Amino acid sequence: MRVVKIFNLNNVISIKDFQKKDINFILDEAENLERVARSEERSDELAGKVLGMMFFEPSTRTRLSFETAIKRLGGNSVGFAGSNISSVSKGENIADTSKMFEAYSDALVIRHDLEGVARFIADIVDVPVINAGDGAGQHPTQTLLDLYTMKREFDKINGLNVALIGDLKYGRTVHSLAYALGMFGVEMSFVSPNELRMSNEVRHDLKKNKFKFHETNNLRDIIDDVDVLYVTRIQKERFPDEEEYSKIKGAYFIDLDLINGKDLIVMHPLPRVDEISHDVDNTKYNKYFKQAFYGVPIRMAILKNII
Ligand code: CP
Repeated sequence: MRVVKIFNLNNVISIKDFQKKDINFILDEAENLERVARSEERSDELAGKVLGMMFFEPSTRTRLSFETAIKRLGGNSVGFAGSNISSVSKGENIADTSKMFEAYSDALVIRHDLEGVARFIADIVDVPVINAGDGAGQHPTQTLLDLYTMKREFDKINGLNVALIGDLKYGRTVHSLAYALGMFGVEMSFVSPNELRMSNEVRHDLKKNKFKFHETNNLRDIIDDVDVLYVTRIQKERFPDEEEYSKIKGAYFIDLDLINGKDLIVMHPLPRVDEISHDVDNTKYNKYFKQAFYGVPIRMAILKNII
């Protein structure tokens, strides 16, 4: 019998490499894997497989949820978090480091502060490569778990009205997410200070694909019309000038006074610094911790289909 492979991507580098059917396939797979992700069922589908984790930039959720995902599927992981504990600190280049990971593992997950590094590595190794965030570029697996959260909350993605708020210039999560939401026919509002507008490249891409969005710097313009407030941190580490960051930090603040009585949910890729008041945490509006958990079934679905 001929096996028809539904998911044909060899690497997960950019959400732009996905078609809508690929995204829907991963979301369905994740739903099937949720009981395993919650440890209510066991799986050994990836027994004997090793996931290589190259994290040159800090991470809590992405790194730990990938590690949990491979372990819940019966596999294991090797790797480092922080280039100071690998031989990169002795001067080894990233190409040589990647060739070592290729020899030791069945797939590589890489986070790096330079845009394009994941694609560069995918071109030089023969195992699948997953981009876990490349500078201000892309964060495709985050986008998949963001979409999954919306689907689980609303039972649909098409037709939602989503506001992306905060650092739209440097935030890689919103660069990937805007593109995917466009594919699903979502109405998007981009809420940011002028200095942190969505990048020209992303806006150009969205317009070229006739994806609908509008821009404002006033949260109150959109608050009554949205289903999702997708809040992001202002990315201090990517500002060339710390004084510029100081002028903009704290530009948006979501608290109960703002959202009480509204029919919406609050999402955030996390980490949060000062964008969402802690008084939102124990309310029905908070979906950001659930969203972080959904990283496990989504990454299980990716690993199962790519390794
Ligand atoms: N959302 C996200 O990428 O979080 P981490 O930086 O903790 O991985």
